[in-house]
Amino acid sequence: MEEIEVCICKRITLSELLEVIDNEGIKDIQTLIEKTKAGTVCKMCISPEDDPYGERDIHLSELLR
Ligand code: FES
Repeated sequence: MEEIEVCICKRITLSELLEVIDNEGIKDIQTLIEKTKAGTVCKMCISPEDDPYGERDIHLSELLR
C-alpha cells in the first residue's frame, strides 16, 4: 500500500501518526505535535484552517476524534 505523507515537511506518514495516536491514546493536537514533531515546520498539515489554499489532502486535526 502506498504511504500517505501527512506532514510533508517532517516526512511523517499516516500510518506512523495513527500508530502513535493509538499506542499513546492521544486526544489532542498539541500532544500529537509534541510527540511526533509533525506540524512543526510550515504548519499547514495541522488543520484545514491552517491550510487556506488546500495544499494538504489530510490534516492532523482530522486524525483525532
Ligand atoms: S507539512 Fe507538516 S509542517 Fe509542513
